Amino acid sequence: MDILLVASAFNSLTQRVFAELGDRGHRVGLELALGDDPLREAVRRTAPDLIVAPMLRTAIPPDIWSAHVCLIVHPGPVGDRGPSSLDWAIHTGATEWGVTVLQASGEMDGGAVWASARCPVPATVGKSDLYRNEVSDAALEAVLLAVERFASGTYVPRPQETSGPGTEVCVRPYFEQSLRRVDWASDPTETVLRKLRGADSQPGVLDGLLEEEWYLHGGHAEDSLRGRPGELLATRSGAVCRATVDGAVWIPELRPRRRAGGPATFKLPAALALGDRLPALPEVAAPGEPLGERSAGLRTWSDIRYHEDGQVGFLSFTFPGGAMSTEQCRRLLTAYRLACARPTTVLVLGGSRDFFSNGIHLNVIEAAADPAQESWENINAMDDLVEAVLTTTDRLVVSALGGNAAAGGAMLALAADQVWCRSGAVLNPHYRLMGLYGSEYWTYTLPRRVGTEQAERLTRRALPVTAARAREIGLVDVVIDSTPQDFGSAVARHAARLASAPGTQQGISEKKAARERDEALTPLSTYRERELARMRATFFDPGAPYHALRAAFVRKVKPSSTPDHLRSGTSPGAQPLTGHSSGSL
Ligand code: COA
Repeated sequence: MDILLVASAFNSLTQRVFAELGDRGHRVGLELALGDDPLREAVRRTAPDLIVAPMLRTAIPPDIWSAHVCLIVHPGPVGDRGPSSLDWAIHTGATEWGVTVLQASGEMDGGAVWASARCPVPATVGKSDLYRNEVSDAALEAVLLAVERFASGTYVPRPQETSGPGTEVCVRPYFEQSLRRVDWASDPTETVLRKLRGADSQPGVLDGLLEEEWYLHGGHAEDSLRGRPGELLATRSGAVCRATVDGAVWIPELRPRRRAGGPATFKLPAALALGDRLPALPEVAAPGEPLGERSAGLRTWSDIRYHEDGQVGFLSFTFPGGAMSTEQCRRLLTAYRLACARPTTVLVLGGSRDFFSNGIHLNVIEAAADPAQESWENINAMDDLVEAVLTTTDRLVVSALGGNAAAGGAMLALAADQVWCRSGAVLNPHYRLMGLYGSEYWTYTLPRRVGTEQAERLTRRALPVTAARAREIGLVDVVIDSTPQDFGSAVARHAARLASAPGTQQGISEKKAARERDEALTPLSTYRERELARMRATFFDPGAPYHALRAAFVRKVKPSSTPDHLRSGTSPGAQPLTGHSSGSL
């Protein structure tokens, strides 16, 4: 079918729907919802069989939904209505939630139901992690079913009220900041954490801190630090620890409140955001740092962790938004080197839920006194890490992607001997949209995996790739079909099997020999120098589009029109959507 996606942004779920429908042979195009007239024009131009809105913050005009079936993905169970469904799910402590695919109608979220799916709500995850994982899985299931039902030509969608037992309509209002406010003098730790998780990653919890107003982003439990409620107690790896009435929480990122008429603000690691305002606080390492090895039962936050099980080492890391600053790359490299000093046969890199990595930290770069220099240091720190992975020849290294990876973060994964990926992950192995040539030794690793032609296509087209498609083209080796919560244990089982497999020792010897052969042909340093020469030229050219693209990205500036590669583009599996005149269905 010809399917037009309409979305407020080409966000993670929209990317996944776009790529998954394309994999199934549909012709898919995308139009950003930037106004009724451009949308009308896109519908006229593409004459789609079906319109699907995976993430839409505005209403589709009546003349479009009365002439075309428009399916709206609502991130709430059948009967749920309103713009803040997931915020309410977390606020009310729901353990199960759902996604409903509705037909657009005159009533917001009130249309007939084409399909729905349920999903669990794990107790400790933030809202955007929930959205990119459990909700995304449920949304895909419901969208695919709805598309199939529409294609059958016979399915009649059901009014919400008659869609099954327990589906009474529940309209929940916009989730105001007043509901998110933390009362440090009385809210117990669990309440504070729930408020922080319900606001993560956006909009954050507005709060007063050190005489100024900030949005708090992210929240994690602390085991032992205690103090006067509301007081800052310590820093750790850029995060700050703040006392509650019965414990303390770690807050990784802050964003200053935007002043009236002032420029948009953006998130930064908390200690960096506070800068000189930060009082003298102890830097309290997590138990077991820098490697991050820890005793079972501890909840305290750290963004890098290590543990071993038999012959397998697991080095996991979780950076907000998957962004890796110079400092984060360096800490991960230190931990990686320590992990490599352990007597293991297999080292798993990653394996946590959600983002694997999205490359260099564009927000930290944007905030730097000299963004060009910070870009340069960040890419070098990324390259040092990638180089360490590429030159590990005494064990097998596995990248385990529980969630999405993009740009240099996707290339970091490719440095490992094997890439394992959760079935719901979406990969964006390209840099073009940020105006960059890219580094992370991608000119070595990407063609090595997919061939020169495919590498050129992936980087030029700059489209998202599903895990299944990535497996087909050799970008990943293993697709792990698990829930987001079970991914870690599934990886552990696969890794244990790999470590004890009869061919593994020989595989390690062969990889060492292959690395030596490749090095003799073209040294790794040559790839790095060539890539970095291009990156340097971009970073230090104030007129290079990268600087404006980065500034717009971190401030979430809406594009003025739908990018051409999405409008005419389609996922790597299918044909472009250009309207019926260009080809038969
Ligand atoms: N630096 C800083 N922040 C980043 C980031 C990066 N490299 N990549 C993602 N983020 C942040 C986003 O700003 C967003 O923040 P929010 O939660 O406050 O809204 C969050 O991570 C999630 O990203 P988002 O864009 O909402 O996710 P998505 O799944 O819709 O899109 C990407 C994912 C990777 C396609 C998109 O984030 C992107 O293009 N990132 C930049 C990649 C890049 O160019 N890296 C630099 C070159 S190596």
